[in-house]
Amino acid sequence: MKRISLIVAALALGAAAFAQQVQVGVVLPTKDEPRWIQDQTRFQTALQNAGISSEVLFSQGSSATEKTNVESLITKGVKVLVLCPQDGSAAAAAADEARQAGVKVISYDRLIRDTAAVDYYVTFDSVQVGAAWGKYLLSKVPAGKKGNNLFIYTGASSDNNAFLFFQGAWQVLQPKIADGTFIVRNSSRAVALKNKANLTRDEQAGIIGQTTTNWNFSDAKNKAEANLTSTGKSDKGTVFICAPNDGTARAIADAFAADKDVTKYYITGQDAEIASIQYIIDGKQSMTVLKDVRTLVKDAIAAAEDFLYGKTPEQTTTYNNGAINVPAKPTAIVTVTKDNVQKEVIDSGYWPASDFTGL
Ligand code: BGC
Repeated sequence: MKRISLIVAALALGAAAFAQQVQVGVVLPTKDEPRWIQDQTRFQTALQNAGISSEVLFSQGSSATEKTNVESLITKGVKVLVLCPQDGSAAAAAADEARQAGVKVISYDRLIRDTAAVDYYVTFDSVQVGAAWGKYLLSKVPAGKKGNNLFIYTGASSDNNAFLFFQGAWQVLQPKIADGTFIVRNSSRAVALKNKANLTRDEQAGIIGQTTTNWNFSDAKNKAEANLTSTGKSDKGTVFICAPNDGTARAIADAFAADKDVTKYYITGQDAEIASIQYIIDGKQSMTVLKDVRTLVKDAIAAAEDFLYGKTPEQTTTYNNGAINVPAKPTAIVTVTKDNVQKEVIDSGYWPASDFTGL
Protein backbone atom coordinates (compact mmCIF):
# COMPACT_ATOMS: atom_id res chain seq x y z
CA MET A 1 0.00 0.00 0.00
CA LYS A 2 2.75 2.35 1.10
CA ARG A 3 4.74 1.44 -1.99
CA ILE A 4 1.85 2.18 -4.31
CA SER A 5 1.24 5.57 -2.79
CA LEU A 6 4.94 6.31 -3.10
CA ILE A 7 4.82 5.43 -6.79
CA VAL A 8 1.72 7.58 -7.24
CA ALA A 9 3.43 10.46 -5.46
CA ALA A 10 6.55 10.07 -7.60
CA LEU A 11 4.44 10.01 -10.78
CA ALA A 12 2.57 13.11 -9.67
CA LEU A 13 5.83 14.89 -8.94
CA GLY A 14 7.21 13.89 -12.32
CA ALA A 15 4.07 15.14 -14.04
CA ALA A 16 4.27 18.41 -12.14
CA ALA A 17 7.90 18.87 -13.12
CA PHE A 18 7.01 18.10 -16.74
CA ALA A 19 4.08 20.51 -16.73
CA GLN A 20 6.31 23.20 -15.28
CA GLN A 21 9.10 22.82 -17.83
CA VAL A 22 9.38 26.11 -19.67
CA GLN A 23 11.57 26.22 -22.77
CA VAL A 24 11.47 29.95 -23.36
CA GLY A 25 10.87 32.54 -20.65
CA VAL A 26 10.02 36.13 -21.48
CA VAL A 27 10.41 38.92 -18.93
CA LEU A 28 8.96 42.33 -19.83
CA PRO A 29 9.34 45.64 -17.92
CA THR A 30 5.76 46.66 -17.07
CA LYS A 31 2.10 46.02 -17.71
CA ASP A 32 1.35 49.69 -17.23
CA GLU A 33 2.35 50.75 -20.75
CA PRO A 34 0.40 49.56 -23.80
CA ARG A 35 3.69 49.00 -25.62
CA TRP A 36 4.59 45.98 -23.45
CA ILE A 37 1.08 44.55 -23.51
CA GLN A 38 1.49 44.50 -27.29
CA ASP A 39 4.65 42.45 -26.87
CA GLN A 40 3.01 40.10 -24.38
CA THR A 41 0.02 39.39 -26.61
CA ARG A 42 2.10 38.94 -29.72
CA PHE A 43 4.60 36.68 -27.88
CA GLN A 44 1.91 34.44 -26.46
CA THR A 45 0.30 33.87 -29.86
CA ALA A 46 3.58 33.35 -31.70
CA LEU A 47 5.12 31.02 -29.09
CA GLN A 48 1.98 28.92 -28.99
CA ASN A 49 1.94 28.68 -32.79
CA ALA A 50 5.59 27.64 -32.73
CA GLY A 51 4.74 24.88 -30.23
CA ILE A 52 7.21 26.22 -27.68
CA SER A 53 6.35 25.97 -23.99
CA SER A 54 6.74 29.42 -22.52
CA GLU A 55 5.90 31.84 -19.77
CA VAL A 56 5.69 35.64 -19.98
CA LEU A 57 6.31 37.59 -16.77
CA PHE A 58 6.29 41.30 -15.92
CA SER A 59 8.72 43.15 -13.67
CA GLN A 60 6.38 46.05 -12.89
CA GLY A 61 9.12 48.66 -12.94
CA SER A 62 11.24 46.81 -10.35
CA SER A 63 14.67 45.31 -10.98
CA ALA A 64 14.19 43.16 -7.86
CA THR A 65 10.97 41.65 -9.26
CA GLU A 66 12.78 41.18 -12.56
CA LYS A 67 15.47 39.15 -10.84
CA THR A 68 12.90 37.05 -8.99
CA ASN A 69 11.14 36.42 -12.30
CA VAL A 70 14.38 35.25 -13.90
CA GLU A 71 15.12 33.00 -10.92
CA SER A 72 11.67 31.41 -11.07
CA LEU A 73 12.17 30.70 -14.78
CA ILE A 74 15.56 29.13 -14.06
CA THR A 75 13.86 26.89 -11.50
CA LYS A 76 11.41 25.82 -14.18
CA GLY A 77 14.26 24.69 -16.39
CA VAL A 78 14.09 27.50 -18.93
CA LYS A 79 16.54 27.06 -21.83
CA VAL A 80 16.32 30.52 -23.35
CA LEU A 81 15.59 33.75 -21.49
CA VAL A 82 14.19 36.72 -23.41
CA LEU A 83 14.70 39.70 -21.13
CA CYS A 84 13.68 43.30 -21.69
CA PRO A 85 15.38 45.03 -18.78
CA GLN A 86 13.68 47.56 -16.57
CA ASP A 87 17.10 49.05 -15.86
CA GLY A 88 19.86 48.06 -18.30
CA SER A 89 22.72 47.87 -15.81
CA ALA A 90 20.74 46.47 -12.90
CA ALA A 91 19.65 43.56 -15.11
CA ALA A 92 23.27 42.38 -15.41
CA ALA A 93 22.96 40.38 -12.18
CA ALA A 94 19.92 38.47 -13.46
CA ALA A 95 21.63 37.80 -16.80
CA ASP A 96 24.73 36.52 -14.97
CA GLU A 97 22.59 34.13 -12.94
CA ALA A 98 20.91 32.81 -16.06
CA ARG A 99 24.26 32.33 -17.80
CA GLN A 100 25.58 30.41 -14.78
CA ALA A 101 22.54 28.12 -15.00
CA GLY A 102 23.37 27.39 -18.65
CA VAL A 103 20.52 29.51 -20.00
CA LYS A 104 20.95 31.48 -23.25
CA VAL A 105 20.19 35.16 -22.70
CA ILE A 106 18.49 37.25 -25.39
CA SER A 107 18.30 40.95 -24.63
CA TYR A 108 14.95 42.12 -26.00
CA ASP A 109 14.34 45.66 -27.30
CA ARG A 110 16.44 47.21 -24.52
CA LEU A 111 20.10 46.31 -24.08
CA ILE A 112 21.27 44.60 -20.88
CA ARG A 113 24.42 46.50 -19.99
CA ASP A 114 27.74 45.92 -18.26
CA THR A 115 27.87 42.12 -18.42
CA ALA A 116 29.30 39.51 -20.78
CA ALA A 117 26.27 37.28 -20.13
CA VAL A 118 24.23 38.44 -23.13
CA ASP A 119 24.17 36.05 -26.10
CA TYR A 120 22.10 38.09 -28.56
CA TYR A 121 20.22 41.36 -28.89
CA VAL A 122 16.86 41.50 -30.68
CA THR A 123 16.04 45.11 -31.41
CA PHE A 124 14.69 47.78 -33.69
CA ASP A 125 17.12 50.25 -35.14
CA SER A 126 16.77 52.69 -32.25
CA VAL A 127 19.21 55.26 -33.63
CA GLN A 128 16.95 55.44 -36.68
CA VAL A 129 13.93 56.06 -34.43
CA GLY A 130 15.59 59.21 -33.11
CA ALA A 131 16.73 60.20 -36.60
CA ALA A 132 13.11 59.86 -37.80
CA TRP A 133 12.02 62.41 -35.17
CA GLY A 134 14.74 64.81 -36.22
CA LYS A 135 13.90 64.46 -39.91
CA TYR A 136 10.20 64.90 -39.28
CA LEU A 137 10.62 68.07 -37.21
CA LEU A 138 13.08 69.52 -39.71
CA SER A 139 10.66 68.84 -42.57
CA LYS A 140 8.12 71.12 -40.85
CA VAL A 141 10.43 74.14 -40.67
CA PRO A 142 9.57 76.73 -43.33
CA ALA A 143 12.48 76.99 -45.79
CA GLY A 144 15.25 79.22 -44.47
CA LYS A 145 13.43 80.18 -41.27
CA LYS A 146 15.78 80.53 -38.28
CA GLY A 147 15.12 80.65 -34.55
CA ASN A 148 12.47 77.91 -34.38
CA ASN A 149 11.57 76.88 -30.83
CA LEU A 150 12.68 73.35 -30.00
CA PHE A 151 11.76 71.42 -26.86
CA ILE A 152 13.54 68.12 -26.25
CA TYR A 153 12.22 65.30 -24.06
CA THR A 154 13.94 61.97 -23.51
CA GLY A 155 13.36 58.52 -22.02
CA ALA A 156 14.62 57.04 -18.75
CA SER A 157 18.37 57.21 -18.30
CA SER A 158 18.31 53.65 -16.93
CA ASP A 159 17.22 52.53 -20.44
CA ASN A 160 20.03 52.28 -22.98
CA ASN A 161 17.47 52.98 -25.72
CA ALA A 162 16.98 56.50 -24.37
CA PHE A 163 20.61 57.16 -25.36
CA LEU A 164 20.24 55.57 -28.81
CA PHE A 165 17.04 57.51 -29.57
CA PHE A 166 18.66 60.72 -28.42
CA GLN A 167 21.82 59.98 -30.41
CA GLY A 168 19.75 59.58 -33.60
CA ALA A 169 17.79 62.77 -32.97
CA TRP A 170 20.96 64.71 -32.17
CA GLN A 171 22.63 63.49 -35.38
CA VAL A 172 19.91 65.19 -37.40
CA LEU A 173 19.06 68.16 -35.19
CA GLN A 174 22.50 69.26 -33.94
CA PRO A 175 23.70 70.84 -37.23
CA LYS A 176 20.39 72.70 -37.35
CA ILE A 177 20.76 73.86 -33.75
CA ALA A 178 24.34 74.93 -34.50
CA ASP A 179 23.25 77.01 -37.53
CA GLY A 180 20.43 78.70 -35.63
CA THR A 181 17.51 76.96 -37.37
CA PHE A 182 16.42 75.63 -33.98
CA ILE A 183 16.86 77.12 -30.53
CA VAL A 184 16.58 74.61 -27.70
CA ARG A 185 14.31 76.18 -25.08
CA ASN A 186 14.40 73.60 -22.30
CA SER A 187 17.95 72.29 -21.91
CA SER A 188 20.88 74.53 -21.05
CA ARG A 189 23.22 71.58 -21.54
CA ALA A 190 21.98 70.98 -25.09
CA VAL A 191 22.51 74.67 -25.78
CA ALA A 192 26.04 74.54 -24.33
CA LEU A 193 26.89 71.53 -26.53
CA LYS A 194 25.21 72.79 -29.69
CA ASN A 195 28.41 72.84 -31.73
CA LYS A 196 29.39 69.28 -30.88
CA ALA A 197 28.27 66.60 -33.35
CA ASN A 198 29.39 63.51 -31.45
CA LEU A 199 28.57 63.60 -27.77
CA THR A 200 30.17 61.34 -25.18
CA ARG A 201 27.85 59.14 -23.13
CA ASP A 202 28.37 61.49 -20.19
CA GLU A 203 27.38 64.51 -22.28
CA GLN A 204 24.30 62.66 -23.51
CA ALA A 205 23.52 61.71 -19.91
CA GLY A 206 23.73 65.40 -18.96
CA ILE A 207 21.10 66.38 -21.53
CA ILE A 208 18.94 63.35 -20.73
CA GLY A 209 19.18 64.27 -17.05
CA GLN A 210 17.59 67.66 -17.82
CA THR A 211 14.98 66.43 -20.27
CA THR A 212 14.00 62.97 -19.02
CA THR A 213 10.41 61.83 -18.71
CA ASN A 214 11.51 58.60 -16.97
CA TRP A 215 9.12 57.01 -19.51
CA ASN A 216 6.40 58.20 -17.16
CA PHE A 217 3.27 60.11 -18.25
CA SER A 218 2.94 62.30 -15.20
CA ASP A 219 6.66 63.11 -15.13
CA ALA A 220 6.34 64.10 -18.79
CA LYS A 221 3.31 66.29 -18.10
CA ASN A 222 4.94 67.95 -15.08
CA LYS A 223 8.16 68.63 -16.96
CA ALA A 224 6.32 70.09 -19.96
CA GLU A 225 4.25 72.33 -17.69
CA ALA A 226 7.35 73.48 -15.80
CA ASN A 227 9.12 74.23 -19.12
CA LEU A 228 6.11 76.18 -20.38
CA THR A 229 5.98 78.21 -17.17
CA SER A 230 9.64 79.19 -17.43
CA THR A 231 9.51 79.98 -21.16
CA GLY A 232 8.50 83.49 -22.20
CA LYS A 233 5.67 84.15 -24.65
CA SER A 234 8.09 85.25 -27.39
CA ASP A 235 9.79 81.82 -27.27
CA LYS A 236 6.54 79.92 -27.81
CA GLY A 237 4.26 80.55 -30.81
CA THR A 238 5.04 77.66 -33.15
CA VAL A 239 6.97 74.98 -31.28
CA PHE A 240 8.77 71.82 -32.32
CA ILE A 241 8.71 69.05 -29.72
CA CYS A 242 10.95 66.02 -29.82
CA ALA A 243 9.00 63.61 -27.59
CA PRO A 244 10.44 60.15 -26.87
CA ASN A 245 7.40 57.85 -27.11
CA ASP A 246 3.63 57.87 -27.57
CA GLY A 247 2.59 57.79 -23.93
CA THR A 248 4.77 60.74 -23.00
CA ALA A 249 3.97 62.51 -26.29
CA ARG A 250 0.26 62.57 -25.48
CA ALA A 251 0.97 63.96 -22.01
CA ILE A 252 3.33 66.61 -23.39
CA ALA A 253 1.01 67.46 -26.30
CA ASP A 254 -1.88 68.01 -23.90
CA ALA A 255 0.27 70.39 -21.83
CA PHE A 256 1.37 72.39 -24.88
CA ALA A 257 -2.15 72.46 -26.31
CA ALA A 258 -3.37 73.99 -23.06
CA ASP A 259 -0.87 76.89 -23.21
CA LYS A 260 -2.47 79.94 -24.84
CA ASP A 261 0.91 81.23 -26.04
CA VAL A 262 1.50 78.09 -28.10
CA THR A 263 -0.20 78.71 -31.44
CA LYS A 264 0.98 75.56 -33.19
CA TYR A 265 3.02 72.54 -32.21
CA TYR A 266 4.63 69.61 -33.98
CA ILE A 267 5.34 66.59 -31.79
CA THR A 268 6.99 63.21 -32.36
CA GLY A 269 6.44 59.81 -30.72
CA GLN A 270 6.94 56.09 -31.17
CA ASP A 271 5.17 52.74 -30.70
CA ALA A 272 2.03 53.33 -32.81
CA GLU A 273 -0.10 52.96 -29.69
CA ILE A 274 -3.82 52.92 -30.40
CA ALA A 275 -4.39 56.11 -28.40
CA SER A 276 -1.66 57.90 -30.34
CA ILE A 277 -2.92 56.74 -33.72
CA GLN A 278 -6.22 58.34 -32.70
CA TYR A 279 -4.30 61.51 -31.68
CA ILE A 280 -2.67 61.53 -35.12
CA ILE A 281 -6.02 61.13 -36.86
CA ASP A 282 -7.36 63.98 -34.69
CA GLY A 283 -4.31 66.20 -35.39
CA LYS A 284 -3.17 66.23 -31.75
CA GLN A 285 0.06 64.26 -32.31
CA SER A 286 2.07 64.81 -35.51
CA MET A 287 3.83 61.51 -36.02
CA THR A 288 4.73 58.21 -34.45
CA VAL A 289 7.31 55.60 -35.29
CA LEU A 290 5.81 52.21 -36.02
CA LYS A 291 8.05 49.56 -34.58
CA ASP A 292 6.29 46.42 -35.77
CA VAL A 293 6.30 44.29 -32.64
CA ARG A 294 5.22 41.29 -34.73
CA THR A 295 8.62 41.37 -36.44
CA LEU A 296 10.50 41.78 -33.17
CA VAL A 297 8.68 38.85 -31.61
CA LYS A 298 9.33 36.77 -34.73
CA ASP A 299 13.04 37.61 -34.57
CA ALA A 300 13.17 36.78 -30.86
CA ILE A 301 11.50 33.41 -31.40
CA ALA A 302 13.75 32.60 -34.37
CA ALA A 303 16.80 33.37 -32.23
CA ALA A 304 15.40 31.32 -29.34
CA GLU A 305 14.80 28.36 -31.68
CA ASP A 306 18.34 28.67 -33.02
CA PHE A 307 19.66 28.46 -29.48
CA LEU A 308 17.35 25.54 -28.61
CA TYR A 309 18.76 23.62 -31.60
CA GLY A 310 22.37 24.62 -30.97
CA LYS A 311 22.58 27.08 -33.84
CA THR A 312 23.78 30.70 -33.92
CA PRO A 313 21.21 33.42 -34.74
CA GLU A 314 21.77 35.67 -37.72
CA GLN A 315 23.90 38.74 -37.03
CA THR A 316 24.27 41.92 -39.06
CA THR A 317 25.90 44.17 -36.48
CA THR A 318 26.88 44.44 -32.82
CA TYR A 319 25.97 46.78 -29.96
CA ASN A 320 28.49 47.54 -27.25
CA ASN A 321 26.91 47.07 -23.84
CA GLY A 322 29.82 48.46 -21.83
CA ALA A 323 31.35 44.97 -21.42
CA ILE A 324 31.14 43.20 -24.80
CA ASN A 325 29.92 43.68 -28.37
CA VAL A 326 26.57 41.90 -28.45
CA PRO A 327 25.57 40.33 -31.81
CA ALA A 328 22.32 41.72 -33.23
CA LYS A 329 20.16 42.10 -36.31
CA PRO A 330 18.26 45.38 -35.91
CA THR A 331 14.84 45.74 -37.53
CA ALA A 332 13.80 48.73 -39.65
CA ILE A 333 11.24 51.27 -38.46
CA VAL A 334 8.50 53.25 -40.25
CA THR A 335 7.50 56.89 -39.77
CA VAL A 336 3.71 57.25 -39.52
CA THR A 337 1.82 60.52 -40.05
CA LYS A 338 -1.75 61.37 -40.93
CA ASP A 339 -0.78 60.89 -44.58
CA ASN A 340 0.20 57.22 -44.39
CA VAL A 341 -1.62 56.02 -41.27
CA GLN A 342 -4.21 54.13 -43.33
CA LYS A 343 -1.58 52.24 -45.31
CA GLU A 344 0.99 51.55 -42.58
CA VAL A 345 -1.25 50.92 -39.60
CA ILE A 346 -4.61 49.75 -40.90
CA ASP A 347 -3.96 48.14 -44.28
CA SER A 348 -0.86 46.41 -42.86
CA GLY A 349 -3.12 44.73 -40.30
CA TYR A 350 -1.30 46.27 -37.35
CA TRP A 351 -4.51 47.61 -35.78
CA PRO A 352 -8.09 47.13 -37.02
CA ALA A 353 -9.89 50.17 -38.46
CA SER A 354 -12.66 49.56 -35.91
CA ASP A 355 -10.30 50.75 -33.14
CA PHE A 356 -10.50 54.32 -34.51
CA THR A 357 -12.92 57.08 -35.33
CA GLY A 358 -12.55 59.61 -38.13
CA LEU A 359 -10.22 57.60 -40.35
C1 BGC B 1 11.10 51.13 -25.98
C2 BGC B 1 9.94 51.97 -26.39
C3 BGC B 1 9.06 52.28 -25.18
C4 BGC B 1 9.91 52.82 -24.04
C5 BGC B 1 9.11 53.00 -22.77
C6 BGC B 1 11.85 51.79 -24.86
O1 BGC B 1 12.94 51.05 -24.48
O2 BGC B 1 11.95 50.88 -27.08
O3 BGC B 1 9.20 51.31 -27.40
O4 BGC B 1 8.09 53.22 -25.49
O5 BGC B 1 10.98 51.95 -23.77
O6 BGC B 1 8.65 51.80 -22.27
